[in-house]
Amino acid sequence: MKPKVYITRKIPDETLALISEVCEVALWEQEDLPVPYEVLEKAVVEVDGIYSLLTDNIDEALISKAKNLKVISNMAVGFNNIDLKAATARGIMVTNTPGVLTETTADLTFALLLATARRLVESSDFLREGKWKTWSPMLLTGQDVYGATLGIIGMGRIGEALAKRAKGFDMRIIYHNRNRKPAVEKELNAEYVDLDVLLKESDFVVIMTPFTPETVNLIGKRELSLMKKTAVLINTARGGIVNEKALYNALVKGEIWAAGLDVFEEEPVPLDNPLLSLPNVVALPHIGSASKKTRMTMANLAAENLLQALAGKTPPNLVNVDLLKG
Ligand code: DGY
Repeated sequence: MKPKVYITRKIPDETLALISEVCEVALWEQEDLPVPYEVLEKAVVEVDGIYSLLTDNIDEALISKAKNLKVISNMAVGFNNIDLKAATARGIMVTNTPGVLTETTADLTFALLLATARRLVESSDFLREGKWKTWSPMLLTGQDVYGATLGIIGMGRIGEALAKRAKGFDMRIIYHNRNRKPAVEKELNAEYVDLDVLLKESDFVVIMTPFTPETVNLIGKRELSLMKKTAVLINTARGGIVNEKALYNALVKGEIWAAGLDVFEEEPVPLDNPLLSLPNVVALPHIGSASKKTRMTMANLAAENLLQALAGKTPPNLVNVDLLKG
């Protein structure tokens, strides 16, 4: 009998074909919106596997309904949408898609940094709105990126890839992480510093850390007040790491200079979020890994994780490795 799988959104045909070859598939494809919780709650009861996205809230209540569930395969590197503890307690494998999106996400992060520093969106709007009357000495002036200090919070794969790009701009690289990375320090001349030192010394503070209970509101009022008045904050990790109210206040009061955000506390970000009213905020709809090639690779890797787990093997990207011990 084929294992039963629920896929929570329309995925590429190629990926669907891979899964359908060996599994009995049900999927949410009515519209390109997250599957309603109640629908997933019903589906989870009988299935052996779930193919999920970061927009699916797979909490303990939902997991507890499952009778046969062996694997939850998330098509994302982040897995904060899944209650890992609840899954592990029931012996359910959780997998993610690390590695394959590193360079694409680092590209977008550096693009956002440049766009925010040099006011690209504001300048483009200025031109389209017919406000460009003449060349003017201080018109739409921004911050230099070349030779500036880059502070990376979270030196994982993507942080390292970002630092490599920053080398080409002759930036001084400082970082803060749970543990030091001697190889990165050597190769990229990066310097490990305390979080407060990073905030005080950086021209660009980039958040690259995973979203965990420890990183909720990691950057709040106190942290923002330590930053330079000319500093730019970039977040392409998860919205909840930065306290948005505190960020709005810091931007309005001129405590920091600008922010580039690809992620928000609530997504999609409500249009009345005050941050969207500020010209010194560049806002993107969570597109860090959104290149055609990378999204295809992520989709197929999530399928591979799912199928390996259903075949009784250890999937390539098992998150709850503790399961292997027991
Ligand atoms: C992830 O994978 O966690 C990103 O946020 C989207 O690619």
